[in-house]
Amino acid sequence: MRVSSASWVPLAIYAASALGAAGVRPKQVKNLVTFGDSYTDTVITGDGGVAWPIYAAGYAQVSLFPFARAGATCSNDITFRPFPSVFESQLPLYFTEKRNGSLKLDPKETIYTLWIGTNDLGVNSLVSGSNKASIVDVAACMVNWVKVLYASGARNFLFQNMIPLQTAPLYAPDSQPNRYWSAPRNTTEWSVFMTELALSGNALTKLMLQALAPSLPGSHIGIFDSHALFADIFAHPAAYLNGTAPPNWRKMALQEHAQQSKALPGTAFSGSMSFIRANKPIEWLPEKLPGPFKVEKADGQRG
Ligand SMILES: *[C@@H]1O[C@H](CO)[C@@H](O)[C@H](O)[C@H]1NC(C)=O
Ligand SMILES: *[C@@H]1O[C@H](CO)[C@@H](O)[C@H](O)[C@H]1NC(C)=O
Ligand SMILES: *[C@@H]1O[C@H](CO)[C@@H](O)[C@H](O)[C@H]1NC(C)=O
Repeated sequence: MRVSSASWVPLAIYAASALGAAGVRPKQVKNLVTFGDSYTDTVITGDGGVAWPIYAAGYAQVSLFPFARAGATCSNDITFRPFPSVFESQLPLYFTEKRNGSLKLDPKETIYTLWIGTNDLGVNSLVSGSNKASIVDVAACMVNWVKVLYASGARNFLFQNMIPLQTAPLYAPDSQPNRYWSAPRNTTEWSVFMTELALSGNALTKLMLQALAPSLPGSHIGIFDSHALFADIFAHPAAYLNGTAPPNWRKMALQEHAQQSKALPGTAFSGSMSFIRANKPIEWLPEKLPGPFKVEKADGQRG
């Protein structure tokens, strides 16, 4: 799915939800620091379009500090790939720049984002059984990103969960051999497995972050539901994308495959996205533990 030129994360950064979670206040954020993979890379953008952090920083009028790099995984210790991972490359660079004074960011005015997982779950990793890791290791690594940055003073976090990867051409049931994977495989099984990996990974990170939030005083952790947003885009493309032709995912997937087989840079589809349906996809997590649990008397225990 080449929707990397997505302008949709115009940071509803500012949209704190109900549910008693504070989130960040309007106008509070002045700096956006991004970590992740090609979905967030501002230099290598896949379709040659404009990456979302550029739009987001523009719309929100904040300064952008982009650390995300194409091909990245959360950690090369879990998923080895010869790309700049979050833990072995992106965070170390951030800390170097922080230490040597080239980055001076007031924690109150800075929000940190992470959008990672596509390469951790993908080919030559979990979906193809190519490493010794599991989705539990990957989820723990993602959540560790919050812990590590918090320990260094960061306070505001936006965690972007994984998209429905089974709808990406590489993992779709009707996927064809392509430049990312040409060995024999059962595409039905990959697609089913990918569905499970993304859903269970997202559920794990949410639970882990909910458990973590109350133990990090002064922190604000929001979850941006990329999974729901992309599922909605996939189901209702015309509600988000315009362009010269009506959106046609099937055609787009086939074009993408054709390009991938020829190893050409992709220009399969481009379109602009509107924000009509993407209002408030951020859930800020409660920052206090819920009160003591009241044990209800169980019904129906007579038999
Ligand atoms: C700080 O470190 C970064 C990354 O190594 C480097 O690009 C930058 O020039 C350094 N700045 C100073 C002031 O040393
Ligand atoms: C692929 O996997 C599906 C689901 O397990 C199975 O029904 C199908 O027969 C498999 N196809 C082949 C060619 O093995
Ligand atoms: C799509 O939307 C963008 C942003 O509103 C606009 O600039 C562009 O002209 C539109 N393209 C078409 C083909 O309607």
